Amino acid sequence: MVETPRARTRTADPAPATALFSERVRDCFSGAANQYEGGARIQRAIAWRLGHLCRPLAIGPGPKADLGAGTGLLARSIVLHRPDLNLLRLDNCQALLEQEPPQAGASSRLLWDLNLGLPAQLAGASLLASSFALQWLEQPRLQLDQWASQLARGGWLVLAVPCSASFEQWRQAAGRARVPFTGLALPAASELIEAVECQLQVVRCQRLRFSRRRPQALAFLRELKAIGAQASPTGQLSRTELRRLQTHWTPNPPKCPLEWEVLLLLARKP
Ligand SMILES: C[S@@+](CC[C@H](N)C(=O)[O-])C[C@H]1O[C@@H](n2cnc3c(N)ncnc32)[C@H](O)[C@@H]1O
Repeated sequence: MVETPRARTRTADPAPATALFSERVRDCFSGAANQYEGGARIQRAIAWRLGHLCRPLAIGPGPKADLGAGTGLLARSIVLHRPDLNLLRLDNCQALLEQEPPQAGASSRLLWDLNLGLPAQLAGASLLASSFALQWLEQPRLQLDQWASQLARGGWLVLAVPCSASFEQWRQAAGRARVPFTGLALPAASELIEAVECQLQVVRCQRLRFSRRRPQALAFLRELKAIGAQASPTGQLSRTELRRLQTHWTPNPPKCPLEWEVLLLLARKP
């Protein structure tokens, strides 16, 4: 069973428009929950990489969590490399959290809106891990500051976030087609690095580039939808706009890869 604490309904009201967007994000992920793991290829690869990075870390006894855990790809990868660890999985999407039935000794799960900060039980955390979740929050940098401040001395932040240099092909095609770019506004890697460096000692910092050929705009947008990642503050395109986007998607097909810029950070509280 997923724990639903009373604190979840407590104050820190986000502005109504952003609260609505947060609900839309949750509903989109909820609708795709049972297909998420089948389509989340980059997320799976990154989760594996982060889990591997945790293998040699000296991690103290404080609370440990996977923030925006979804179906638990990252938490499971960390536990695979570090069977001695038990991570609390936090997410505001119950359907994703419930994808994996609890087994004996499995991590506990908490339904929690990360736009409200972290729950009190994570104060003095020895490990805060998060992959592909921070970008969905209303104020990624502010939340990252808070995550860093909640770590205990010697505590670790293990983070992966897609950043603003992603999806240039999509942005340019939208410009040529004169339709809105409906991707999420991703945070700038430099801003997140700066936030982390204010409080933590950065041990590893990489900006990974993943490149995939996606000759069809519609196929790509369907892929996002298949994992529930289609929510957009600018709304969805009409059919006519979609057709225009498709027409302008690949002026030069073999040379138009779609790129993800993923910031990978490993940092420790001194
Ligand atoms: C792309 S999925 C990544 C899931 C998982 N970390 C992984 O790597 O597969 C983004 C996750 O962020 C969660 N999320 C988005 N907004 C959230 C919020 N406000 N509070 C908690 N979780 C949130 C979603 O429900 C979803 O599980």
